[in-house]
Amino acid sequence: MPHFSIQNRTLCAETQPLTTIADEFGTPTYVYSKAAITENYLSYANACRENGRTEHTALVCYSVKSNSNLAVLHLLSQLGSGFDIVSSGELLRVLAAGGDPEKVIFSGVGKTRDEMRLALSHGIACFNVESTSELHRLSAVAIEMQLTASISLRVNPNVDAKTHPYISTGLKENKFGVAIEDALMIYRTAASLPGIRVVGIDCHIGSQLLDDAPLLEALDKLIELIDVLAAEDIVIHHLDIGGGLGIDYEAEAPVTVGDYLTRLFRKIDTWRAEKYGGVPIKVLFEPGRSIVGNAGVLLTRVEYLKPGSEKNFAIVDAAMNDLMRPAMYQAWHGVQTVVQRDGEAVVWDIVGPVCESGDWLARARTLFLEEGDLLAIHSAGAYGMTMSSNYNTRGRAAEVMVDGNVSHLIRQRETPEQLFALEKILP
Ligand code: LLP
Repeated sequence: MPHFSIQNRTLCAETQPLTTIADEFGTPTYVYSKAAITENYLSYANACRENGRTEHTALVCYSVKSNSNLAVLHLLSQLGSGFDIVSSGELLRVLAAGGDPEKVIFSGVGKTRDEMRLALSHGIACFNVESTSELHRLSAVAIEMQLTASISLRVNPNVDAKTHPYISTGLKENKFGVAIEDALMIYRTAASLPGIRVVGIDCHIGSQLLDDAPLLEALDKLIELIDVLAAEDIVIHHLDIGGGLGIDYEAEAPVTVGDYLTRLFRKIDTWRAEKYGGVPIKVLFEPGRSIVGNAGVLLTRVEYLKPGSEKNFAIVDAAMNDLMRPAMYQAWHGVQTVVQRDGEAVVWDIVGPVCESGDWLARARTLFLEEGDLLAIHSAGAYGMTMSSNYNTRGRAAEVMVDGNVSHLIRQRETPEQLFALEKILP
């Protein structure tokens, strides 16, 4: 059964009616399905196992930025997941949720010295280094601490991920990684630095990829580079292909995790058999959206209906500060009334109360609506809550995780007082 489905004319998360959740916790509220997150994680873990991988030869490092609630991290950590982080804040979250630092990899173009120190002191698995300057800084910090930093170089394979320009990261024009042509030289530098141990190679070409062809093309380029490095005795122990698999928002039909991983492992196995006598290389993945995206909805209530001559607006209690994706990327999210009723459907723009014309959640949706109705904004589990803000001094939404017929509050709704508690009036 799908994890969000209509039961007795009411949309439910697992077996919990969303009406009950709204009554208990109010709106707007993010609602996640524990079973959906589990199933999505296991689609990766099982595909690894079915392709002959063990925990020593494959690791899923969930991309924390997509949904960083402690309950989500704890659940994934219990399932065996590692974590891809981009800040010390994310590292502290992972640790607070019981994540294993030895399964943490640290990505990002702007790591500060303090962030490097914190990560080194916890013994994370690997830094995904994105520039020569970062490499020198990391070596110096590690030496100060009398430690060695394990690194991968994030290379930019210059493949077109064919996705939204804001979430495409593998082209030369992007700020991420180092150009693949420069990688050999930078690896040589890395191998010569006393505070650095070269362990891997990394790339991440973009997000919401529907086809795995660009990922497999990137893999080919990494393989070529690994062979060149091997000829110089620079041994690469793991290959990190990044995240990026897309999800269905509307009806995109992305490649399945199973098909993608099977094709990827097949390529790797053929290459290792030909060139390395079958000695395996560990493979890392950094998925975010494909694990949590379709495991969450944003539950919101219609405050006002404002029909007009040009457009009809349904003003709801969630806004761009809660779900930024439509305003930022013109992203499409499905909208469904929680209680199914018969009536005349009209075309509505679903908008929030924030004072910006860009504050819309969905446009031109044909729905039968009345004031007070509950709506579910679908596919909101990834880059929803984590990208939310307090604009207009709006407290962030509550977060609830449903497990069967039980709803757990996993983050309280923010109160206005909390929003200005850190501020001070001049003496
Ligand atoms: N690894 C790295 C280095 C990344 O930069 C990202 C996402 C991921 C992994 C996870 O990618 P995923 O599997 O989720 O596609 N805010 C945008 C998405 C930005 C993605 C940033 N990087 C959105 O709402 O669509």
